[in-house]
Amino acid sequence: MSIDFISHITSELNGIHSEGLFKAERIITTPQSRIVELEDGSTVINLCANNYLGLSNNPSLITAGKNALEKYGYGMSSVRFICGTQEVHKNLEYSLSKFLGFEDTILYSSCYDANTGLFETLLGPEDAIISDSLNHASIIDGVRLSKAQRFRYKNSDMQDLEDQLRASSKCRFRLIATDGVFSMDGYIANLKGICDLAEKYNAMVMVDDSHAVGFIGETGRGTHEYCNVIGRVDIMSGTLGKALGGASGGYISANGKVVELLRQRSRPYLFSNTLAPVIAATTIAALDMLESSNDRIQKLRQNTVYFRDNIQKAGFDTLSGAHPIVPIMLRDPKLSQKMAEMLSSKGVYVAPFSFPVVPRGTDRIRTQMSAALEIEDLDFAIKAFTEVGEYLKII
Ligand SMILES: Cc1ncc(COP(=O)(O)O)c(C=O)c1O
Repeated sequence: MSIDFISHITSELNGIHSEGLFKAERIITTPQSRIVELEDGSTVINLCANNYLGLSNNPSLITAGKNALEKYGYGMSSVRFICGTQEVHKNLEYSLSKFLGFEDTILYSSCYDANTGLFETLLGPEDAIISDSLNHASIIDGVRLSKAQRFRYKNSDMQDLEDQLRASSKCRFRLIATDGVFSMDGYIANLKGICDLAEKYNAMVMVDDSHAVGFIGETGRGTHEYCNVIGRVDIMSGTLGKALGGASGGYISANGKVVELLRQRSRPYLFSNTLAPVIAATTIAALDMLESSNDRIQKLRQNTVYFRDNIQKAGFDTLSGAHPIVPIMLRDPKLSQKMAEMLSSKGVYVAPFSFPVVPRGTDRIRTQMSAALEIEDLDFAIKAFTEVGEYLKII
């Protein structure tokens, strides 16, 4: 490779380092869990996994996975339409449809793939996508791939959404796209307001519920349950890689005809390997667990309220809300990195978030609650936060 090119790449990397934006990957030597061990042998309480329901290392799911490996084999070595569809894939699509309240569901290798394969398949140049400004990168990239006209409204600003609906009134079909939960802030989208406007202006609604499926809403259906708009959202995408066991995989749930067209035309579905059957089977087991007990959802809620209350009382600047994502705002990349390092040395595992993951000047540590955590873990973490916060003169 050319020396000039490598030196260009090196200077890019040096720039990332000197701005305090370098994202180091720490190696975990244990399964994902409430407490994990790091490469240096230290153990840390985990406050940064998307392991909302504590299912990532759940013994019953591991058994379900082992049984699935025996029954279905390891890999499919195929995309779905060639020879990559087993009964277990259809069963998971059926289970997700039933759980979420949609006619049909299509599986993808990830929610990133689901979102990038959605918009260009369904909408053309005469249509419009009206997208929340804080939507996840996968929606943004999916919108970029489509030929539809693009409109953007300020985060959760219903007046601006209405303005954009008026501005796009000449378009054939209009789809409002929003995260159900804005993943950097933990804010839940105003789906009631969005659905009201969509109905008023004859637009459709798409929600990415990656940070909600399995635990938001009374029975964990997601933000459409939480906002009481089940049946009013047209398309939902989500991930299997967070609350529902945390392996990987994504889906889109919608009207049967919409899903049928996605199976015919959606590029990440057509041109990428099928979801491993072990994941499909284990996700069904996770959904069955949710149907049979609400305990994990309740525990997650209790942990969230406890941590939010006590970290605020300790004097930290947090974003308010009800979601298990609790961002601790530091507004400086180097300070965020320093704080995360110091917390790790005190036994609390958190990650700093800076540009480009969040806008410049909104650097933070994003903590995430889990049903796997115990109150003593949260007390331990709050004590460590307080000590480090005082040392760094944040509180
Ligand atoms: C809102 C949102 N959508 C989509 C994704 C991507 O999900 P996956 O890991 O399944 O690609 C994420 C993951 O970070 C997310 O937060």
